[in-house]
Amino acid sequence: MSTVVYPGSFDPVTVGHLDLIRRAAGIFDHVVVGVLVNSEKKTPLFSLEERVIMLKDACKGIPNVSVESFEGLLVDFVRAKGSDTIIRGLRALMDFEMELQLAQVNRIASDGIETLFLPTDPRYSDVSSSVVREFAKYRKALPEFVPENVLKAMVEKGIVESTKQED
Ligand code: PNS
Repeated sequence: MSTVVYPGSFDPVTVGHLDLIRRAAGIFDHVVVGVLVNSEKKTPLFSLEERVIMLKDACKGIPNVSVESFEGLLVDFVRAKGSDTIIRGLRALMDFEMELQLAQVNRIASDGIETLFLPTDPRYSDVSSSVVREFAKYRKALPEFVPENVLKAMVEKGIVESTKQED
């Protein structure tokens, strides 16, 4: 069985992440979405538990996807899942430099774990969790950027103001 790991902070999961998960699920037998525990971001918008719950909810229509948190090195998590493949999305050239370095380091450090890149669907090339967080600082939602359940959670937590779509 082919298993791929899709790692990230997912703070919060976006429609771009979700598209990538769906596409990976069409290629691999099993996709493990790995949510990083020790995020370096100082003030995450959502706790780890919330991020995992929101991801599970957003992925519930995709049968061959599971969502788990992980701590420590990504390559150790990948091996623990019985996989040797990581998948990451590439939105633009801007992403490439950092992603290439991560992929190289992970391959060297693990003696062979490969990273595959999927180009982000152009509809989502400007979508990012960091932009969602930046707008949230000003209580502004970006309904086009996040799945419905995330938007709902943001409104319910009082992070953003209610939007027309919510009424
Ligand atoms: O969504 P993000 O924040 O861009 O994801 C970054 C992530 C989780 C892929 C990366 O930070 C990571 O793999 N962290 C785990 C620690 C690790 O393995 N570091 C070594 C690579 S330098």
